[in-house]
Amino acid sequence: MATASKRDSPRNVILVGATSGIARPLGRRLVARGWNLVVTGRDPARLAPLADDLRVRGNGTIATLVFDPSDAAAVAGLCGAAAALLGGPIDGVIVCHGTLPDESGAWLDVEQTRGAIDANFTSAAMVLAAAAQALENRPGAFLAAISSVAGDRGRQSNYAYGAAKAGLTAYLSGLRNRLHPRGVVVITVKPGIVRTPMTEGLAAARSPLAADADTVARDIERAILRRQAVLYTPWFWWPVMTVICAIPEAIFKRLKL
Ligand SMILES: NC(=O)c1ccc[n+]([C@@H]2O[C@H](COP(=O)([O-])OP(=O)(O)OC[C@H]3O[C@@H](n4cnc5c(N)ncnc54)[C@H](OP(=O)(O)O)[C@@H]3O)[C@@H](O)[C@H]2O)c1
Repeated sequence: MATASKRDSPRNVILVGATSGIARPLGRRLVARGWNLVVTGRDPARLAPLADDLRVRGNGTIATLVFDPSDAAAVAGLCGAAAALLGGPIDGVIVCHGTLPDESGAWLDVEQTRGAIDANFTSAAMVLAAAAQALENRPGAFLAAISSVAGDRGRQSNYAYGAAKAGLTAYLSGLRNRLHPRGVVVITVKPGIVRTPMTEGLAAARSPLAADADTVARDIERAILRRQAVLYTPWFWWPVMTVICAIPEAIFKRLKL
């Protein structure tokens, strides 16, 4: 677990979707660095015990904010509300919420398709837009969001989710391009398969390629500290996805992936 150091002055950070399996160990790591956190989630009953757990793990301020990332008015007020809770401007925003739909019938299901795009792309992009406005004049600030390797190439097993993550990856790329001259780093996190509530019961979670959430959280913490643009986590997903993306479409369309 990381410890606070001189190079690592306390920062005011918003963890959106803090109740997620990946955000939980990430929050613990950031708190151990002495950072101040606003943890958000839609369900106050899940947020309160999370915040209590974080408070005993570090000296920083931990505040909770009940927040639905699909609510445009709440999104517009997010950074102002979080700054008020922490008593100072925000230095970083990490977007961790998302949902993995069962896509076995998705090609027929209009509402499920919209739900997958809204939960994994629209709401995340809205939060990033609001955060970019709040942070664009704060050189040294950072924005991070959890996309997925699923966004690198559409597969029959999860192409609505994958399309949403592809959109998020492209959005982050453009935002990085825009904010780079202002000294604000934008970090795209692309996990592979992670053992969390999202993948519980899925065969993929039993695959040797599946990682535990703390390994992914450690990589995200490092990427934030190093101000890394794109993170594949664990690292081996970069060569795996490079190969998958290189397969010609004439072959790829015949594969059962
Ligand atoms: N697990 C994996 O294998 C994996 C792989 C690649 C990428 N990812 C991505 O990593 C992120 C975290 O995943 P995880 O596995 O940690 O997820 P998780 O444990 O299932 O948690 C997801 C969180 O997202 C929030 N959420 C769920 N549906 C939502 C909706 N419709 N609108 C807004 N918020 C919603 C929930 O928070 P509240 O209900 O408390 O608001 C929940 O705590 C997600 O973006 C996911 O797509 C995960």
